[in-house]
Amino acid sequence: MKPKSLFTRLLLSNALIILLTLLILGGVFNYLLQHYLSKSREAQFTKVAKTMSNTILLKQSMQNEDTWTLDSIIKQVSQSAATDVVIINAKGQVLASTNSRIADQTLTNTEVISVLSGTPYDKWGGSFLGVPSLTVGYPVKDKGQIIGAIFLDAPLKGFQASLFTFRLLILYAALFSLLMSAIVAYILAKSISRPILEMNKSAKALARGKDLNLVNYHGNDEIASLVAMFNRSVREVQNTRAQQHKLEEQRREFVANVSHEFRAPVTSLQGFLELMQDGIIPEAERPKYFALMLNDTARLNRLVNDLLDMARLQAEQVKLKPEALNPIKLAETLLLKLSPQATEHGVSLVMDFPTSVTFVVADKDRLEQILLNLLDNALRYTPAGGNIVLKIQPDHTSTCFEIQDSGPGIPAADLPHVFERFYKVDKARTPDKGGTGLGLAIVKDLVEAHGGQIEVVSEPGQGAKFTFCIPNA
Ligand SMILES: Nc1ncnc2c1ncn2[C@@H]1O[C@H](COP(=O)(O)OP(=O)(O)OP(=O)(O)O)[C@@H](O)[C@H]1O
Ligand SMILES: [Mg+2]
Repeated sequence: MKPKSLFTRLLLSNALIILLTLLILGGVFNYLLQHYLSKSREAQFTKVAKTMSNTILLKQSMQNEDTWTLDSIIKQVSQSAATDVVIINAKGQVLASTNSRIADQTLTNTEVISVLSGTPYDKWGGSFLGVPSLTVGYPVKDKGQIIGAIFLDAPLKGFQASLFTFRLLILYAALFSLLMSAIVAYILAKSISRPILEMNKSAKALARGKDLNLVNYHGNDEIASLVAMFNRSVREVQNTRAQQHKLEEQRREFVANVSHEFRAPVTSLQGFLELMQDGIIPEAERPKYFALMLNDTARLNRLVNDLLDMARLQAEQVKLKPEALNPIKLAETLLLKLSPQATEHGVSLVMDFPTSVTFVVADKDRLEQILLNLLDNALRYTPAGGNIVLKIQPDHTSTCFEIQDSGPGIPAADLPHVFERFYKVDKARTPDKGGTGLGLAIVKDLVEAHGGQIEVVSEPGQGAKFTFCIPNA
């Protein structure tokens, strides 16, 4: 069997409560109504009978058996009280009756005997005149003597008819309020169950890893706060999923890049080795090939080192050994180291240092690595005849290093990406200079590890300018 939905259960239980309430109310009302009507009718009859029994005219007419007067009296009473009226004498003989069925009879019913012996009588549902009725009997006394009795008798039929009309009215009212409350219950059940159903659907989608929907519900009840919490969780899951997706993408891209970078040197190494094994390369040519192979292994070595470096930086495993350094001394040593390379390229290295020394806090080897990487790039991408300026600019709190070259610069579209791993500008146009595109990624991580920031600006044809600042000692 299909499990009953929350909505159905809410609706059914609401409807059940309403129905029960109406049934109980209807029952009570019906009982009260019947009770009240019968009692008030009985009281009315008793009052009329009592009043009549004290009327002198009636007593005289009974004693004189003046049926004409009696008839006119009972006709009046019968009309005003909507009842049959019967008058008997002390022997039970009917003197006057609005009901022709018992005219001129002598009554010997128990009720008659009881009333003639002095006890008033009233009964609901008896059959004084042959049909179920309300009967009230009252003795008529004259000077302490019972001279007869008066009976008022109204069939229950008419009474029941009016009761039936009342009941019908109650039923209509009940049906109407049932309908109204069913509508209200429906709306209420819908408004409670809808957000819960939606959350249910959304949670199922979540479990299946599908797209998530936010639940739309406004208000300030418990459901609203539940919905708000649910939506917050949905957004969190959405974000986590997006992040996971991005990370997964990055990881795949990274593996592809690494494999790609490894392929060229490994393939060329394998090729040379096979040629040598097959004895295809003459002895005299071998040194040339060894040099090429060394170049490949050097490239592989650098790649592995860069990857390791980066992995450690990413995992924040790199422990910097910060110390107070003289940046000018460090830069001079570096430029001296690079001068043979610069001369070979036909590029001049220019120093732009301040006159006074401001010490910085940095890891010496790492700061060297940063500057070397940037200068290496500048040397590599600046054509012969150009120059590279290394500027050191101390400020109050930090010292900025600026490496400006006169090379082709970096296109604006590539600028935001140069610090990404494996990013190389326009591989087609710049012939392979042996770079892997990891240099600037490592530089950025290192600068940040020093608590600094690195920026690059470049106008096409005006060269590139890299600037980073680290704290002063
Ligand atoms: N001074 C510069 N002038 C022009 N282009 C540059 C300059 N510095 C970097 N680039 C561009 O940015 C790219 C990324 O530089 P990065 O140092 O990260 O990698 P790489 O030099 O190619 O390789 P690696 O440094 O890992 O050997 C370079 O490939 C190059 O296209
Ligand atoms: Mg580089």
